[in-house]
Amino acid sequence: MEEPLIPREEIGRRVAELAQRLREDYGEEPLHLVVILKGAIFFAVDLIRALGRPVTLGFVSAASYGAGTESSGEVKLNLEALGAVEGRHVLVVEDILDTGLTLAKVKEAIAARAPRSLRLCVLLEKPARKQVPIEADYLGFQIGDRFVVGYGLDHAERHRELPDIRALGPEGRSGHRAEA
Ligand code: PRP
Repeated sequence: MEEPLIPREEIGRRVAELAQRLREDYGEEPLHLVVILKGAIFFAVDLIRALGRPVTLGFVSAASYGAGTESSGEVKLNLEALGAVEGRHVLVVEDILDTGLTLAKVKEAIAARAPRSLRLCVLLEKPARKQVPIEADYLGFQIGDRFVVGYGLDHAERHRELPDIRALGPEGRSGHRAEA
């Protein structure tokens, strides 16, 4: 496996900066975090600790359907653990924005439940891969078109435990969403 693309220290510094911006933007307002399972739980835990203020938590799981290694474009959500979002400030926490199909679907589903505000906090973005016009309100890092693992990101459920973010292959190994 290659050298870390983003070492743990750099991730930690960026998480602390994002938490500081969130504290400035939300103040003492009640905040509901929606974490997209599974990879983003690592980022979410560090972010919540860095925030150092109460939040409520919800979870969404997403799966794509189709053949091959590329997403079919159809994302199916499980919203059972979303929590109450109506009339509340909601911040979606995601590990990676790749094609954008997952976040677009999650955003649409939450927006339909009339939150008071809705923003997206994303650790990594691959601008080259985006298929739908969606932007993170809070972004950790932009990366090239590499398949990345570590810090929650997996390849066939492996490597999530790594503290750094690493590239598994050369530029051009892309799609992240696992097929169901
Ligand atoms: C990955 C990642 C995002 C999604 C991004 O999830 O965690 O949720 O793909 O891809 P997109 O922008 O092209 O939709 P994955 O299916 O690997 O699930 P996991 O988090 O449970 O590993």
